[in-house]
Amino acid sequence: MTNPRILLIIGGGIAAYKSIELVRLLRKAGYVVRCVITRAGEQFVTPLTLAALSENKVYTNLFDLKDEVEMGHIQLSREADLVVVAPATADLLAKMAAGIADDLATTLLLATDKPVLTAPAMNVRMWLHPATQRNIATLRGDGVTVMAPDEGEMACGEFGPGRLPEPAAIKNAIDAALAAAPAVTAMVGQPDFAPANHRPLYGRRILITAGPTHEPIDPVRYIANRSSGKQGFAIAEAAAAAGAEVLLIAGPVPLPTPPGVIRVDVETAVEMADEVRQGLPVDAAIMVAAVADWRAADPAGQKIKKDGSGAVPPLALAENPDILAGVAKSAERPTLLIGFAAETNDVIAHAEAKLARKGCDWIVANDVAADPMGGESNRVHIVSKTGIDSWDRLPKAAVARKLMEKIADELDARSPCQSD
Ligand code: CTP
Repeated sequence: MTNPRILLIIGGGIAAYKSIELVRLLRKAGYVVRCVITRAGEQFVTPLTLAALSENKVYTNLFDLKDEVEMGHIQLSREADLVVVAPATADLLAKMAAGIADDLATTLLLATDKPVLTAPAMNVRMWLHPATQRNIATLRGDGVTVMAPDEGEMACGEFGPGRLPEPAAIKNAIDAALAAAPAVTAMVGQPDFAPANHRPLYGRRILITAGPTHEPIDPVRYIANRSSGKQGFAIAEAAAAAGAEVLLIAGPVPLPTPPGVIRVDVETAVEMADEVRQGLPVDAAIMVAAVADWRAADPAGQKIKKDGSGAVPPLALAENPDILAGVAKSAERPTLLIGFAAETNDVIAHAEAKLARKGCDWIVANDVAADPMGGESNRVHIVSKTGIDSWDRLPKAAVARKLMEKIADELDARSPCQSD
């Protein structure tokens, strides 16, 4: 494509200053850039700066009649090859999801017939709020690409996901969006699910749990296990690459959010159970998390201190909810429900017993005798009522991809996609 044309919509928020660098990178790469800045965005960057860098007029006002004569807003929204919203505030995403058009930016977004890429930036709580996550799911369902925000310290002092991705990352996402065939709603930044544009889970919604849970004993101590979260995150990445809408409910692990995945972080099994309930209904749920079986029955509100006598404090435990078994019994049981089991001995026998006990469709039994949790590969057996499918030891990403193919086939057999 020669000189692709980008319509860049700049929302409000401190991250708006990064749009200056983005315009610079895009111009350097030969893109034609037209900027639209919202009223809130103007508080952080000036139209003059953007005009100088983009070497183009900057649009701010829907009711600029001169522009309506020169170039109507419909034309402005359609002459671009790609519409980019960066930073996309919670407010802008909400308006987009609801189809509200009450200023130039939102009118263009509603009027465009071109692919739209959004780079969100907002406070961590705003990002994690169910309303925002709902809006993102709606937008993705509409074919809008929503980049995952970066994690880190925010201008407001809080820590977590919500930072605007770096301009170079947005530029990469723009390159990928322009390279993608318009009919394929691949998430930007995802590796192709080989062969190119093969998205066997397109139109499916998949919930994944991953990582350990931390069960507090007091404000500074907790019960945990050695789960690294790597296999669950690899599965989330592969599911999104395969075209699914993915909700990843993650215990405490320092892993980056895979591209295109909606992630909700939790600490305890009870929190995980709650988020899973809220995440239903889905087409398939894959419970990879190593949920702690027990929690402290009565966590102390203050740090437990030694009293000098040598006496050990009592630690009473309570059993955690079995999330997988609970989903299996729920009215919203997914079409395909998959559990994981790390076993050191009698792998198949334990998996068969677990399959029956939990009421799920498959158990992915993971033989951890030779390679305990945290490694880079897995040797798995897919145990179901109809038989056992044993795979060679494979890197976790390869296990994830093979599993997605199997899940796609199974879902197609059990409940063909409406778009099929
Ligand atoms: N699981 C769950 N909630 C729990 C415990 C386990 O959802 N409270 C899920 C895990 O995510 C996994 C499957 O159940 O998909 C099997 O986990 P595992 O720890 O092997 O099962 P347990 O019932 O705890 O069995 P074991 O006594 O062998 O630890």
